[in-house]
Amino acid sequence: TRVLVLNGPNLGRLGVREPEVYGSTTHDELASAVEKWAADLGLDAQVRQTDDESALVGWLHEAVDARAHVALNPAAFTHYSYALRDAAAQITHAGLVLVEVHLSNPYAREAFRHVSVIGPIATGTIAGFGVEGYRLALEAIASRL
Ligand code: DQA
Repeated sequence: TRVLVLNGPNLGRLGVREPEVYGSTTHDELASAVEKWAADLGLDAQVRQTDDESALVGWLHEAVDARAHVALNPAAFTHYSYALRDAAAQITHAGLVLVEVHLSNPYAREAFRHVSVIGPIATGTIAGFGVEGYRLALEAIASRL
């Protein structure tokens, strides 16, 4: 079972960027952990990160065509990207699982983070558990297969 784990803008800066909010794990460390957790669950996961909205849209199209489930941390695009929402909607419409993941709990932060345009079309959302949230997302995907 294929899973794409997609991370949006500024998440390549994990470990350096506001560690009090996002933790000290780097993106490389996150990617290794995710691949190990996925293998333990019998999933074949690939982790990708980009700061580019069009790349994320393209990867979501790729997931639909390859019938891959998706764990998506849309980062700041969460709050305003209708293009990403429309692309992400195709995942759940295709009968695939889409888990929205956030390291922090956006509801405990600034008001602009309280809106997610992705949440309504996701299968579900996991937020506030740091890097552990990616493991929970993989477990959620595995449990629905
Ligand atoms: C984030 C939360 C977003 O509000 C923020 O823009 C991010 C990361 C998180 O993982 O907590 O870049 O998605």
